[in-house]
Amino acid sequence: MTYATALAHPNIALVKYWGKRDETLSLPATGSLSVTLDILPTTTTVEVDGSLRSDAFALDGATASPAALERVSRFLDLVRERAGDDRHAIVRSTNEVPTGAGLASSAAGFAALATAAAAAYGLRLDERERSRLARRGSGSAARSIVSGVSVWHAGDDAASFAEPVEAPPLALVLATVDAGEKPVPSRQAMRQSVATSPFFAAWVDDAERTLEAMLAASAAGDLETMGRLTERNAMRMHAVIQSNDPPVRYLTGASLAVLDRVQRLRDEGVVAHATADAGPNLAVLCAPGDAQSVADAIADVASVAIAHPGPGARLLAAEVAA
Ligand code: DP6
Repeated sequence: MTYATALAHPNIALVKYWGKRDETLSLPATGSLSVTLDILPTTTTVEVDGSLRSDAFALDGATASPAALERVSRFLDLVRERAGDDRHAIVRSTNEVPTGAGLASSAAGFAALATAAAAAYGLRLDERERSRLARRGSGSAARSIVSGVSVWHAGDDAASFAEPVEAPPLALVLATVDAGEKPVPSRQAMRQSVATSPFFAAWVDDAERTLEAMLAASAAGDLETMGRLTERNAMRMHAVIQSNDPPVRYLTGASLAVLDRVQRLRDEGVVAHATADAGPNLAVLCAPGDAQSVADAIADVASVAIAHPGPGARLLAAEVAA
């Protein structure tokens, strides 16, 4: 028996990944940029065992759904193929998410799984190779391999990985308005945007230019420009999603209440800008010194948590036969 345990954190994109150009290889239509957080980690152990007849997957101590097991098992197939090792494994994963916070993330999950599985099957991968591997489990996981602010290149299979970029000090205030299940899984809504939104081509064109501007603002330490680009990019992504056929709308009245508060903070001179993934919850980008007052300003319309740039996925323990 050999095993490895890895830890990874979720990430919040400031320039979103929305749309694949290759489903099999999980290649994005555009590059994206995100912040790996320092809170809400996922810890995953992969135990490789030659006596198992199939893979098993436990999530937070309970047997995972058949669909979740299938997704983990297909991912392990990629690792097994690469390692030339066809043994099955038991995967145990725990999310340190406050009960009901609704922030469990496939990005942290597949970044931790890629790191643990690679080690357990004896693959020696550098950060880039792990980012490419994590991408195959969930696109955004490519970015949770990397510490702090990172860019995930659209590229071809070899070139599509995340790497760190220079950025000013920043904080993200997570504003949870609804911890429930999303009405439509993001993977499905993303696919529908590519196939049915009349605005998808414009989104791709705009996202590429926004990423260039974001990289320049980040390198220049210009948090205000980063914020403006972040909120604009999120609103454009949600506009695309709402233009799907059938339409999908993730933002709710409660989300808009948070957006109104963020606008009010700006009116008062605070540099704060919001983003939202494929769901109703928001993250507010601001300077670390403003995080507490931003959190206080929205605490009555959302449950809040303050996050900062955090570490990339890392191995915590491993015992692997030579
Ligand atoms: C809205 O990475 O979850 O959070 O590649 O299909 O697993 P799959 O999608 P996923 O999509 C994340 C979309 C997003 C934006 C982002 O994180 O960039």
